[in-house]
Amino acid sequence: MERNGGGRAATIAVPLIAFVIAAAAVVLPSTVSGGGRTGSHSREYREHFVRRVPGEPQKARLLPDLRVKVVEGVIEEGLARSRAAIRRATRAPRDESVRRIRSFRDVGDAFAPRGAIYRNAMAFHRSYVEMERRMKIWTYQEGEPPLAHLGPGTDIYSIEGQFLYEIEDPRNRFAARRPVEANVFLLPISVCNLVHYVYRLNTTAYLAPLRRLVADYVHVVAERHPYWNRSGGADHVLVSCHDWAPLVSEGNRQLYSNTIRVLCNANTSEGFRPRKDATLPEVNLADGVLRRPTFGLPPENRTTLAFFAGGMHGEIRRSLLQHWVGRDPDMHVHEYLHAGQDYHALMARARFCLCPSGFEVASPRVVESVFAGCVPVIISEGYPLPFSDVPDWSKMSVTVPAARIPELKVILRGVSERRYRVLHARVLQAQRHFVLHRPARRFDMIHMVLHSIWLRRLNVRLPY
Ligand SMILES: *[C@@H]1O[C@H](CO)[C@@H](O)[C@H](O)[C@H]1NC(C)=O
Ligand SMILES: *[C@@H]1O[C@H](CO)[C@@H](O)[C@H](O)[C@H]1NC(C)=O
Ligand SMILES: *[C@@H]1O[C@H](CO)[C@@H](O)[C@H](O)[C@H]1NC(C)=O
Ligand SMILES: *[C@@H]1O[C@H](CO)[C@@H](O)[C@H](O)[C@H]1NC(C)=O
Repeated sequence: MERNGGGRAATIAVPLIAFVIAAAAVVLPSTVSGGGRTGSHSREYREHFVRRVPGEPQKARLLPDLRVKVVEGVIEEGLARSRAAIRRATRAPRDESVRRIRSFRDVGDAFAPRGAIYRNAMAFHRSYVEMERRMKIWTYQEGEPPLAHLGPGTDIYSIEGQFLYEIEDPRNRFAARRPVEANVFLLPISVCNLVHYVYRLNTTAYLAPLRRLVADYVHVVAERHPYWNRSGGADHVLVSCHDWAPLVSEGNRQLYSNTIRVLCNANTSEGFRPRKDATLPEVNLADGVLRRPTFGLPPENRTTLAFFAGGMHGEIRRSLLQHWVGRDPDMHVHEYLHAGQDYHALMARARFCLCPSGFEVASPRVVESVFAGCVPVIISEGYPLPFSDVPDWSKMSVTVPAARIPELKVILRGVSERRYRVLHARVLQAQRHFVLHRPARRFDMIHMVLHSIWLRRLNVRLPY
């Protein structure tokens, strides 16, 4: 999972047309059978326009709208059944819905989501079970490591490599065996590795080579397979944690406008559209080891009111550090920790952990807080939190607008002990959705990311 190859020295060997060359080397099957029209010639073609959501933030939309047609065949009919099942589960009286779900094949872990952290536990459970039943992802074979099929497995962008690894793991239960049976298509490109291996600080063209590589990749799969053109890329997925992924995705206008982009840098002021795109949680795996979450100290032993440590990255952090570093013994706000201070142990004994945006909207502190049983305090703007179709973040975190940073202590002191204990218990309850396993397990982080993709592929919004 490490970035392999000879690091920067190896980069010269990667030509900009790497994807085209790699793809050309793969033997084209003599007949590309199936595709969108398999088995559907006897059926009517029904067309609909997907993901046209009036009133979404469109401020940074750089590209002209594309009218995307999806031709519905066997696969679309299966998805329609899943949509109907989710709607029924939503409407059904509670007990009936529970019974129906229990009678369903629920292999191994019989976990059922319940409780106030879920916006609608029934609808989520049904949607999750429908995903397990029907979601099939085809990962394009084109492209070669390190630019495709491989991403970083350590540090703050690790989720990008972790996701690619899991999706290409032979044990992945969602993998389509053949592309004709897939309802989701993954572009297994790593923007992190593109930046690492291709980007040159001094090139005048800035991101152009990276955009061109992504465009090449799309071009190759659109030439060789029927799937991209059939939906204009709308049933395709790009997953990236790199800050520049939104910019790099501009390399192809259909990719930008239609494809489900799963991004850590989910800034709604920069073209991220929550109905089409999904937020990828940022996970800092310093050493690449997948750890278990901890309970941390019980609430009565959490003696620090608030904890933060981190550099002065961006305006929100500047404001936070200027107001609180060294100001108040209850507010443990640091730019850098001293040698010997344990970041995670400090989180595990704080009541609240501050999660301000940095240079970009995402912060690994959201997942770190959940792991340490520390109630997250979200300080960001235009950032839909990860998986927010499913958990109701307002039930397990505190949101403070950047403008109210000076009032942080008053706000946090204002949370009653009773309310605090409820928030704390819910954070522990949510932990299972933020854990990485190898291989991935039901309801863990990778499967929650897949569920975010599934909802967008269905174009269904779970009721609140
Ligand atoms: C990039 O530009 C900087 C400043 O102009 C220069 O010092 C550096 O040597 C250049 N690096 C390369 C790899 O050309
Ligand atoms: C998809 O569309 C592009 C551009 O219109 C075209 O060049 C390509 O051949 C098409 N792909 C297939 C498989 O028909
Ligand atoms: C919490 O504090 C109490 C004393 O107030 C102590 O007896 C107990 O061991 C502490 N628990 C933990 C887990 O530190
Ligand atoms: C989000 O995008 C807007 C518009 O580009 C930008 O001004 C803002 O700084 C971004 N947020 C963060 C935290 O980077």
